[in-house]
Amino acid sequence: MTERKYGVAVIGYGGMGSWHVKELLEMKEAELCGVYDIDPDKIEKAQSLGIHTYTSLEELLADDRVWIVTIATPNDTHCSIAIQAMQMKKNVVCEKPAAMNTRELSEMIQASEDNHVIFTAHHNRRWDQDYLAVKQMYDQNTLGRIFNIESRIQGSRGIFGDWRKTREHGGGMVMDWGVHLFDQLLTLTKEKIVSVYAQLSYVTGHEVDDGFKAVIQFADGFVCQAEVNTYTFINLPRWYLQGEKGTAIINDWELEGKIVQILDDSDDNVEPVAAASGISRTVAPRDERTVKESKIPHISSNVQEFYQNIFGTLDGEDSLIVKPDEIMRCMKLMEVVIYAGEVNEVTHCTI
Ligand SMILES: NC(=O)c1ccc[n+]([C@@H]2O[C@H](COP(=O)([O-])OP(=O)(O)OC[C@H]3O[C@@H](n4cnc5c(N)ncnc54)[C@H](O)[C@@H]3O)[C@@H](O)[C@H]2O)c1
Repeated sequence: MTERKYGVAVIGYGGMGSWHVKELLEMKEAELCGVYDIDPDKIEKAQSLGIHTYTSLEELLADDRVWIVTIATPNDTHCSIAIQAMQMKKNVVCEKPAAMNTRELSEMIQASEDNHVIFTAHHNRRWDQDYLAVKQMYDQNTLGRIFNIESRIQGSRGIFGDWRKTREHGGGMVMDWGVHLFDQLLTLTKEKIVSVYAQLSYVTGHEVDDGFKAVIQFADGFVCQAEVNTYTFINLPRWYLQGEKGTAIINDWELEGKIVQILDDSDDNVEPVAAASGISRTVAPRDERTVKESKIPHISSNVQEFYQNIFGTLDGEDSLIVKPDEIMRCMKLMEVVIYAGEVNEVTHCTI
């Protein structure tokens, strides 16, 4: 990559906008041109930290130093801000979910094509080490052919914040966390999704889902279960993988867990074991003669690669990691999950 600095401005200086600002300030390739937020308190906060602020979106978009605009505002505002920015020939990084629906997303992708600028979404959880371990196990066949993956996020504090509790602003957990879980699962395989079954939960009493379960069936028989709970007090593992040659569990972000691979499954002279008020051979445990245990692989990861990839793409030396067609595929799945959850039926599709 060339030695130049890439001017980036951030729109929305709340939780995630502050994260982008911090990342950009740490990157030698980036120049943080400034931030804009509709909330005067956020502007004051940015100024108190010595960050340049803009008085309007128009002023930000008119700044020639700004090459890339990062949009970190509530979900319902992404589409109009992104299109306005692209019409001003700015490259756009949009927080996830990139849009409220596939219709908005199509318009955004069209605007990027019409104006010859980059459009991508911040699918940053492709750099999570737990996901990278799963991807490695999937790609390297560590468990043989994987036929089931369960991916879960769990919390106990309900839906966080204000706008996330409303439909109007694109709240709910399918939109908030579902996008990450689906993007991760979809980047494992190019197989088509053929059906989705989903349940949406409303335990905490808001108009949007505070959690969901989705069973996603691919054409080759691979099944993924994605689940988000925001009101649960005992967590299930972050990941559970079943393959024809083994099983893996990843309990948490620290990669606590294990891989168990089968060495010899011909061992059928098994004695029944006591199982609660009866006996069973089905649940008889295995020993080290027939299975091998190992640790979850630790793969080094640096999320700054997300921006470095955009800079490299602008220089023509790289191609986008988070591609518009992948963002669209993920958005289509989110729409089907919401639909399947609302009608409470298995929904057939081709995604
Ligand atoms: N990728 C991730 O890991 C991740 C994590 C958290 C949030 N997000 C996403 O980031 C976005 C922002 O979420 P958040 O948690 O930071 O929300 P937030 O409420 O903390 O911050 C949003 C900010 O946008 C400002 N804002 C609202 N409308 C605006 C407008 N029209 N123009 C300028 N500023 C405006 C608000 O004043 C606020 O400061 C959402 O799309 C969310 O889904 C992504």
